[in-house]
Amino acid sequence: MKSFVEQSNFFGTENPEALAKQYGTPLYVYNEENLRAHMKAVAGVITKYPYRANFSMKANSNLSILKMALEEGLNADAMSVGEMTLLLKAGFPSDRIFFVPNNVSEEELQFAIDHDIMTSLDSLEQLELFGTLNPGGKCSVRINPGVGAGHHEKVVTAGKKTKFGIEESDVDAIFDIAKKYNLHIAEINQHVGSQYLDPQPFLDAVENFLRIAEKFDELEYIDFGGGYGIPYHKLDDEAAFDMESFSERFTALLDAYAERHPDNIPLFKSEPGRYCVAEGGVILGRVHATKQNYGNKYAGTDIGMNVLARPTLYDSWHDIEILRDGKAVTEGEHEEVYVTGNICESGDLLCKGRNLPKIQRGDLVCVLDAGAYGFSMSSNYNSRLLSAEVLITKEGKAKLIRRRQTFEEMFATFPEE
Ligand code: LLP
Repeated sequence: MKSFVEQSNFFGTENPEALAKQYGTPLYVYNEENLRAHMKAVAGVITKYPYRANFSMKANSNLSILKMALEEGLNADAMSVGEMTLLLKAGFPSDRIFFVPNNVSEEELQFAIDHDIMTSLDSLEQLELFGTLNPGGKCSVRINPGVGAGHHEKVVTAGKKTKFGIEESDVDAIFDIAKKYNLHIAEINQHVGSQYLDPQPFLDAVENFLRIAEKFDELEYIDFGGGYGIPYHKLDDEAAFDMESFSERFTALLDAYAERHPDNIPLFKSEPGRYCVAEGGVILGRVHATKQNYGNKYAGTDIGMNVLARPTLYDSWHDIEILRDGKAVTEGEHEEVYVTGNICESGDLLCKGRNLPKIQRGDLVCVLDAGAYGFSMSSNYNSRLLSAEVLITKEGKAKLIRRRQTFEEMFATFPEE
C-alpha cells in the first residue's frame, strides 16, 4: 500500500508528528513545490494567444500563497472588498485584479472603482448601479450561458437554475444600459462550475462563449472562468486533469475565433482556484477518542466541519491517511470507520464507513487535498479557534504562514461591558 504524503515527500525534512506537537492540531500544512507546480501549469495553458489565468482566491486566501500566485505570473479574482484588500496587500497591482462579485452594495462597487479594479457586473441592476457610480467607465458583464457543470448541485454556477450572471437574451438590455451611462463593456466573463475532470463541458462552454462574444464590439478581454478538477480519489489512482490535452483543445477553439477576428484578438482569461491549491494542502488532526456505537466504529478527531466544511456541505470525498509516530500506517489490520470531528452536529463526518487502517487514540489523521476551500471556508462554529497554517518551503522546512487564532481575537468584536 502506498502513502501519498510519504511518496510525495509532502512534509519535506519535517516529521508530521513533530509539526503537530509544535503548532498544535488541527493544522493546515501546505507544500510550496506542489502549489507552485500547479500554479505554473495553469499560467501556461495558452501560449499562442495573449492569455492570463486569474487565481480565484476564494479557494485559498492565505497571504503567503497569494504572494506565490503573484510570483508565478497569475492574476487574481476577488469576490469581496476583503478579498480585494488582501490582494492589494499581497502586492497585486490593480490591473491584475478582477472583481467578480454577486449582489454587492454601492460601497463595495465604489471600492473597486476607487482602486481602478476591473469589475464584472452580474445583473442588469448591478450594471445600472455601476453606471450611476462610474459613468463613462469600463467594466465586464457576467453572462450566464444557460448551461452549467460541476461536482455537486451547489457548485454549478451557470445554467437556468442558478443565481449567477445575466442571461443571453438580455444582451440588448446590457447595450441599452451601457449606452445610457456611456459605459465601455470591455470584457465578458462566465464561470460554469467547479471540479470537472473531463474538460468537455468547459470546452463546450468556451465555444459557446466565443459565439456570444461576437455580439459585443471591441472586447479587450474574454474570461472563460475556472473549475478544473483535481483527483480527490488519488489513493484509488484516479487520473488527474490532463492539462496538456486540455491546452491543445482549448487552443484549437481559440484558433477558430482568431481566424474569424485576426485583427481583434482580446486577452483570453480563465479563473482557476481549486486546481492551483487543492493538492498542495493537507490537514493534520489528532484522534482524541475512538468508540463503537451500535455496530459502527467512530474515530473522533479535532477536524470538525468548522475546520473542513466540504464533506458536510457537499458529501465531498477527501482521501485520508493515518499517521502514527510520524509514519504513515498502510499495512496491518483495516476496518470500516466513521472519521468524525468534535462539533455538535451529526453531519460532522469526514467519511462514512471507510476502510482504513485500524485507528487508535493518539494517531494523527491526515486529510488530503484540503488546500482549496479548506481554511477559506472554515469557521468559529462551537466557538472553536481558526487553525494555524504551515508551509513546507522548497527547502523542505516548515514555516508558519498563519498562527492559530486566539480566544481574545475571537471575542474581540463584543463591546466592552
Ligand atoms: N470564478 C468564479 C466566478 C467562481 O465562482 C469560482 C468558484 C471560480 C472562479 C473558481 O472555481 P474553481 O476553479 O475553484 O473550481 N466551495 C466549493 C467550490 C465553490 C466554487 C465557487 N466558485 C467546493 O469546495 O467544492
